[in-house]
Amino acid sequence: MASDIEAAVGILRNGGLVGMPTETVYGLAGDARDELAVRRIFAAKGRPAAHPVIVHVAGAEALNEWAREVPESAWQLAEAFWPGPLTLVLRRQSGVLDAITGGQETVALRVPDHPVALELLRAFGSGLAAPSANRYGKVSPTTAAHVREGLGNEVALVLDGGPCVIGLESTIVDLSSEEPALLRPGAITPEMLTARLGRRVSVRAEGGTVRVPGQVRSHYAPAAGVTVVPHGRLSDEASRGVARGLKVAGLTTQPVALPDGATAIVLMGGLPELARSLYARFRELDSQGYGLILVEEPDEEGLGLALRDRLRRAAAR
Ligand code: TXA
Ligand code: MG
Repeated sequence: MASDIEAAVGILRNGGLVGMPTETVYGLAGDARDELAVRRIFAAKGRPAAHPVIVHVAGAEALNEWAREVPESAWQLAEAFWPGPLTLVLRRQSGVLDAITGGQETVALRVPDHPVALELLRAFGSGLAAPSANRYGKVSPTTAAHVREGLGNEVALVLDGGPCVIGLESTIVDLSSEEPALLRPGAITPEMLTARLGRRVSVRAEGGTVRVPGQVRSHYAPAAGVTVVPHGRLSDEASRGVARGLKVAGLTTQPVALPDGATAIVLMGGLPELARSLYARFRELDSQGYGLILVEEPDEEGLGLALRDRLRRAAAR
């Protein structure tokens, strides 16, 4: 692995892109100080250029390099949750590229909790811009093979750090104004943030002034139709899908009997397992020709909020 890290650093220093494992999803990494590298990321993803990207750093010490007027709340959250699946939106330091911030006055920062990512960041010695390593609007990758499938021609090297243990993109919290706001739910839950900050974190409604691609309605979507089904309704919905002539899969965390012609996929590890494997299941079911994926709707607590968010987007057409 040491030689892979060296090779990756060489590519990054030359403005190239590298597939980077993190605990959430794989990122498409490029030098966050190199405008051309950042433009390459957008081109590779087919992502609109006005969208901002997250800068990944090796530790909270780097906060002042990228952000200014860093509030106490940011240091508290960094101390509690970094390295980890939390992205902080802060006022940008002068010199941070417009290509990174989408021209906004804020920058998003995160320290990923993955040994390979941390080794890469330390060896590189600066920030790495890294959105999820998928084509724009497609399902995020949670293995190195997913990255190669989607962006194999675009990326010179994919560091293989194994399957992502969390499986959903990081929580994004905006600390750039008075009131902390949750922009994207993830594995660090509002309850965890509130407990740590000693104040409520509001959930910002969609379509606010800050642009977040994850807030585009149809996102994270597989080719198959996705329907989120209230608890206890999986079997009925499956019958309807089968009656429409569709190949139906039902994802659930509880054993359930489905009608003939529908396949039940029981994720015995509960919500963490559903989160970890959701995107991989979407890909697998697509490749097996399923036309309809039913997912039992989780409760809102804990990881449920992030899962409901991604499921709602996958279901949007
Ligand atoms: O878990 C993750 O965060 C993954 C891994 C690779 O770290 N990355 C990821 O990147 O999900 P991406 O580009 O798919 O999503 C980045 C999100 C976008 O929704 C983007 O708009 C938001 O971060 N973002 C970046 N800079 C921002 C800013 N200045 N203000 C508000 N949102 C920002
Ligand atoms: Mg993404």
